[in-house]
Amino acid sequence: MPAFKTLDDLADITGKVALVRVDLNLPMKDGSATDVTRVEAVRSTILELCEKGAKVLLLAHFGRPGGKRSSVLSTSMVVGDVERVLGKELMFIPEVAGPVVEQSIDILRNGEIGLLENTRFWPGEEANDPNFAQAIAAHGDFFVNDAFSASHRAHATTVGLAQYLPAYAGRAMEKELKALDAALGNPEPPVAAVVGGAKVSTKLAVLENLVGKVQHLIIGGGMANTFLAARGVNVGKSLCEHDLTDTATKIMDEADHAGCTVHLPYDVVVAKEFAPNPPSVRTCNVHEVAEDEMILDIGPGATEALADVLKTCRTLVWNGPLGAFETEPFDTATMTFARHVAALTQEGSLVSVAGGGDTVAALAQAGVADDVTYISTAGGAFLEWMEGKELPGVAALSA
Ligand code: 3PG
Repeated sequence: MPAFKTLDDLADITGKVALVRVDLNLPMKDGSATDVTRVEAVRSTILELCEKGAKVLLLAHFGRPGGKRSSVLSTSMVVGDVERVLGKELMFIPEVAGPVVEQSIDILRNGEIGLLENTRFWPGEEANDPNFAQAIAAHGDFFVNDAFSASHRAHATTVGLAQYLPAYAGRAMEKELKALDAALGNPEPPVAAVVGGAKVSTKLAVLENLVGKVQHLIIGGGMANTFLAARGVNVGKSLCEHDLTDTATKIMDEADHAGCTVHLPYDVVVAKEFAPNPPSVRTCNVHEVAEDEMILDIGPGATEALADVLKTCRTLVWNGPLGAFETEPFDTATMTFARHVAALTQEGSLVSVAGGGDTVAALAQAGVADDVTYISTAGGAFLEWMEGKELPGVAALSA
């Protein structure tokens, strides 16, 4: 894990201006957030800085406005949600640099918080323009990055600011980097990885990185069909990227060479139509899928076999569901597997790290979100980390 400074390295910060990058890219419905996990994650950093007497200026992007102002993508949209989670009032500042920010800092008292406008309203953000970064940096005494989930972007407020101000990892960033290091950077073996989801094409780099790092690679979701087809299985009308079967074979060969076992289901749940509890649903051996059927979940035998694999492992990293978990009864394998993961984690035999929207939703649906070692709120950043890439925002903290 790269060395980086944390809030513990800050001396007296009374009256100092902290520029704190957070991820407030929250899912919204009818004007309020449907999930405030990302705000909860950065709460301790913000409150700690306030308690230590800093003036805290929050920097965040919201959606993808493409370098121009958009009233519906103003960070003012999330002020109410952030205030509720923090239990403190925010001053909304409709700029990120310049006289309005300067005057707002003068008005803010020590320990108070300002939320700056959506950084992506300015093209300099995504271009990591040094002039833009310097204009923002001019307002602060130090920079804190607490937005792991935005740190795969080399933007002015994830990378640029660290060049002009002393940079520190916030508490959420620190926790995330430690958890991810324990899962793949420096894990206790044997390590299992679950990679699920609809398409192999979106996770090729992840699979290629993992085969060299883990002892067990469990492939789930629609992706597994492409691997089954590569092994000569007739997958009927299942979702399958037939043009990628050679790639799947190559990944399985690489896994063999690296001593990594690739786990594919030997029984599956199939149906003729993808709908809740369809009359045609049945469980069968993977070699008995009919032409007019599609695989929608892994079967009970394969699920139990995976639970047995987990019992032999010390570390699990999980991204992507095993089946079409949002539609009953195709949630069964994912729910059962999630409960096994939670039980082994609680017994202390497994370190479990999960990430990605679907996986987090699946753990919540199984009622075990609090029973795994760590859940990452990152989407794209978690995937890039699983690909073995260095995230620019994280690298900037140790530069
Ligand atoms: C996310 O929601 O995953 C992060 O906020 C990054 O957003 P982006 O994909 O628009 O950069």
